[in-house]
Amino acid sequence: MPAPKKIAVVGATGRVGKQTVDILTKRGYDVVKISRSQGVDVVTGEGLAAALVGVDVIVDAASNPTPDQAEATEFFTASAENLQREGARAGVRQIVVVSIIGIDNFAGGYYAAKIEQERVHRAGSVPIKILRAAQFHEFLGIVIEWCTQGDVAYLPKMRTQPVEARAVAEVLADLAVDEQPLDKPWVEIAGPQAETLADVATALAANRGYPAKIEEVSADDPDQRLAATGALLPNAGAILAGPTYAEWLETEFPS
Ligand SMILES: NC(=O)c1ccc[n+]([C@@H]2O[C@H](COP(=O)([O-])OP(=O)(O)OC[C@H]3O[C@@H](n4cnc5c(N)ncnc54)[C@H](OP(=O)(O)O)[C@@H]3O)[C@@H](O)[C@H]2O)c1
Repeated sequence: MPAPKKIAVVGATGRVGKQTVDILTKRGYDVVKISRSQGVDVVTGEGLAAALVGVDVIVDAASNPTPDQAEATEFFTASAENLQREGARAGVRQIVVVSIIGIDNFAGGYYAAKIEQERVHRAGSVPIKILRAAQFHEFLGIVIEWCTQGDVAYLPKMRTQPVEARAVAEVLADLAVDEQPLDKPWVEIAGPQAETLADVATALAANRGYPAKIEEVSADDPDQRLAATGALLPNAGAILAGPTYAEWLETEFPS
């Protein structure tokens, strides 16, 4: 099989998508950027067939970051179906999908929608590879803001081993250019250190002065209990890549 030349990155302006575009471009690949701001909508399908002409490989890094399960499921099933259908028509040879570590046992919300996305992609005719990532360093500050009222961040008890989006993008790029199938259902990537969301907020507060106060709130449903007890942590064999969250903060926002 000839080496891929033209690679489409869906979600090209997002946290991990823009890093993937940058890495693949620097490695010399012809990169097609796909997002609504580039005139292509993977949910409605508008502009997708034209964007995929001549594309060998797709990286699916699009997202609709909503906690609403129905909305997220609609987004991920429609986008996966459209990418599979139009990808097959265009002769795409593989799709690399970004997913999340540990989602299998979650029953609701965004994680359940990601399981549906994986299922639809697996059922499609274009071969896939799944990269399951831990929470991105770049995303955790946003999660903490969502949980903050006034001065206080009310944080669910959650264990995570966060990773820089750039490190995830390096592995996505490797998977995209290597068309050998995986010998397992997915690959995992996480950061070097397990933390709680409260640890992350403490590091954020030390670096940037907010949130002023941090309170951990107890898990009151099964999905929260799963997150609290480590279901989102990487499994044996995961790729672990630095920097830690605190090291990343220091380089992003030097004190
Ligand atoms: N964030 C995390 O901590 C994390 C952790 C593990 C895995 N992941 C997974 O990684 C992937 C990317 O997450 P992210 O945080 O990098 O996403 P993000 O920053 O929210 O970016 C989402 C991207 O999707 C594009 N997009 C949204 N709706 C679209 C549509 N209808 N058609 C075409 N493009 C659309 C956006 O561009 P436009 O708005 O211009 O369309 C943007 O480029 C997702 O699958 C997510 O589940 C994320």
